[in-house]
Amino acid sequence: MKTLKTCLSGLALSVACATASAGEVEVLHWWTSGGEAAAINVLKQEMEAAGHTWKDFAVAGGGGESAMTVLKSRAISGNPPSAAQIKGLDIQEWGELGFLSPLDEVAAAGQWDSLLPQVVSDVMKYDGHYVAVPVNVHRVNWLWANPEAFKKANVEVPTSWEQMIEIGPKLKEAGYVPLAHGGQAWQDATVFEDIALAQGPDFYRKAFVEHDEATLKGDTMIKVFNTFRKVRDLIDADASGRDWNVATSMVINGQAAMQLMGDWAKGEFTAAGKTAGTDYICAPAPGTEGMFTFNIDSLAMFQQSDDSRIEAQQDLARLVMEPKFQETFNLNKGSIPARQGMDRTPFDSCAHASMDAFTASAESGSLVPSMAHGMSTSSRVQGAIYDVVTNFFNTSDMSAEDAVDKLARAVNASL
Ligand code: GAL
Repeated sequence: MKTLKTCLSGLALSVACATASAGEVEVLHWWTSGGEAAAINVLKQEMEAAGHTWKDFAVAGGGGESAMTVLKSRAISGNPPSAAQIKGLDIQEWGELGFLSPLDEVAAAGQWDSLLPQVVSDVMKYDGHYVAVPVNVHRVNWLWANPEAFKKANVEVPTSWEQMIEIGPKLKEAGYVPLAHGGQAWQDATVFEDIALAQGPDFYRKAFVEHDEATLKGDTMIKVFNTFRKVRDLIDADASGRDWNVATSMVINGQAAMQLMGDWAKGEFTAAGKTAGTDYICAPAPGTEGMFTFNIDSLAMFQQSDDSRIEAQQDLARLVMEPKFQETFNLNKGSIPARQGMDRTPFDSCAHASMDAFTASAESGSLVPSMAHGMSTSSRVQGAIYDVVTNFFNTSDMSAEDAVDKLARAVNASL
């Protein structure tokens, strides 16, 4: 069969030629908020422009838990989509089960090894072979703030958790919900890992990468849980079950002063036409200046038997690594390109801060994988941490001492 590239390099692109080589690509993802949808739409358009058919398989639900459940049932029934947004250590799990198809040829032709930082390419490989392609790098430890709220309450954007808790009553007096939050396990875990990171990258790594028992139930972790409980006082009574992008819109429309969320939140500010630095402020989560919890989004390819679908998959992988896609997608998504050496000019001040922090933290040893977003540990361990964290956050009768004990036991049991 002729490839689409061969057809395009001919004198004229005949319809028959394009039809013979074009394939369908079904892509599973959970990017349904305003900013997320704008970002994935970039890929859809590029694939369609290359002659392929895009079959959108969106499963709503921030953090992707529902999407992963649906993916498992499709794979078990022998009918997985061609591509799925799978991240971090989940890629290894799918690789081990033998579902993924290698992308080594596209990767070699596109020189991925030299274009990707090793911390990114390591995640994309299973058993030394590329099986996924990265679309971005998200920074998780961000605080998003509404400058108007801070002006009215006459307080500063906090740089420590003590300050964060202290300014709560003043923001409330000025008429704001201090912290916009959605009561869902993955959002609770996102805030929790920010608080843990403020204890330093070594502590963070020992707890969430190495799962060191003494660290999981030690005094520092007790302190982390106690701070976490105090943060709950900054949240309004209606937070339960709220989607993350609804929480972001509370900061955008001036109902809330802050949100702790990865920089996919910036995609919502962008979609609402807001400008970084003037309409909203991005700052490192309190106590985490210079540190960087990374969350890399990627598309993994599932084995297909149809030739045209295989070709479409390879084209998808190739397009994702092109500078044009990496730029446009990330401008919409709020993240930074995974591909190195990109022009920084089109990006805003928050993206520049993220790029600088990524490089500096890699040098200083403060670049750490996000636990809440599947980068640091298996989905089993992650699920165990989620359970303890979210139970603690939603009950008042569990002490921090009890919580660390439960955490250490739950992690150990799921290793
Ligand atoms: C993360 C994902 C981001 C963003 C977020 C909210 O896990 O990596 O791309 O979409 O969930 O849905």
